[in-house]
Amino acid sequence: MRIAILGTGVVGSTIGDKLVSIGHEVRMGSRSASNEKARDWAAAAGRLASQGTFADAAAFGEVAFNCTAGVSSLAALESVGAENLARKILLDVSNPLDFSKGMPPTLTICNTDSLGEAIQRRFPDTRVVKTLGSMNCKVMVEPSRIAGDHDVFVAGNDPEARAQVSRWLQEWFGWKAPVDLGDITAARGLEMWLPLWVRLMGTLHTADFNLKLAR
Ligand SMILES: NC(=O)c1ccc[n+]([C@@H]2O[C@H](COP(=O)([O-])OP(=O)(O)OC[C@H]3O[C@@H](n4cnc5c(N)ncnc54)[C@H](OP(=O)(O)O)[C@@H]3O)[C@@H](O)[C@H]2O)c1
Repeated sequence: MRIAILGTGVVGSTIGDKLVSIGHEVRMGSRSASNEKARDWAAAAGRLASQGTFADAAAFGEVAFNCTAGVSSLAALESVGAENLARKILLDVSNPLDFSKGMPPTLTICNTDSLGEAIQRRFPDTRVVKTLGSMNCKVMVEPSRIAGDHDVFVAGNDPEARAQVSRWLQEWFGWKAPVDLGDITAARGLEMWLPLWVRLMGTLHTADFNLKLAR
């Protein structure tokens, strides 16, 4: 499959590496066609990997991941152009974390709204599915880093897109059946988990932990 990774940070390269390793064609996008991190990533990842602008990557992908800094995700996606994302599924991994005043970060949007919803409102023809952002990126693509069962969530307005993303998470990354939270307003809770996630990382001195639902 042709997959767009929008974002050149550790999340984009980690997801990109995993997708290339299982045989997908991946194009990483950034603000510049000659972004050094994207160039280095594509060179190291091999023949299935390429890089370009955010718009190049989105146009290339049959599906896209939003792995941009949450405070800038809307600006980044704006430069993609709505037509390059129209009718496609956008897996939104971002979190609206503002680090400008140091640690801990604050949420730029919360309670009655979320970044996932803001992206869906701005791109009504794109099927936004919020997922994976509730854990460290190494765990996203390798859930077996953590012993036992633990959970990943999907939220989005289109039930078929949520079901498709659930299948991809199982097929690509080895997740057991994701928890379907329903429409995109569930992104509020997923994003508001982040302040506690950041706190736990400081307490546990590791990023290898995740939510596990006990019923
Ligand atoms: N780190 C994790 O394990 C983890 C886990 C869960 C969720 N997340 C979320 O995943 C997302 C990516 O995190 P990350 O640490 O990999 O990368 P990041 O440093 O948060 O974001 C890097 C990307 O954001 C783009 N960007 C930054 N400022 C921009 C602006 N003003 N306009 C347009 N684009 C801009 C950069 O574009 P250029 O390439 O052009 O520089 C780059 O592609 C974040 O939303 C984060 O909260 C991270």
